Amino acid sequence: MAYDRRTVKMCVCHRKKFDLILELARQQECETVEDIQEKDIACKGCGMCHPYVQKMLVTGETRFIPGDVYINSKH
Ligand code: FES
Repeated sequence: MAYDRRTVKMCVCHRKKFDLILELARQQECETVEDIQEKDIACKGCGMCHPYVQKMLVTGETRFIPGDVYINSKH
């Protein structure tokens, strides 16, 4: 997978990188985006990061190609 400056790697609204969000989510036992919101970690702004954060929680990945989360999506 090739990454460049367009790589999706943070919740822009909270100015927090996914690496930190994942670390805090694991420390606070968050399993969903809603859990992360309730703990005031991130994801309470525009919502654009939500599909990436959800995938991060499942896979542990913290860097994504823009739109990658929608490939093979059932939506
Ligand atoms: S980018 Fe995460 S809520 Fe806006």
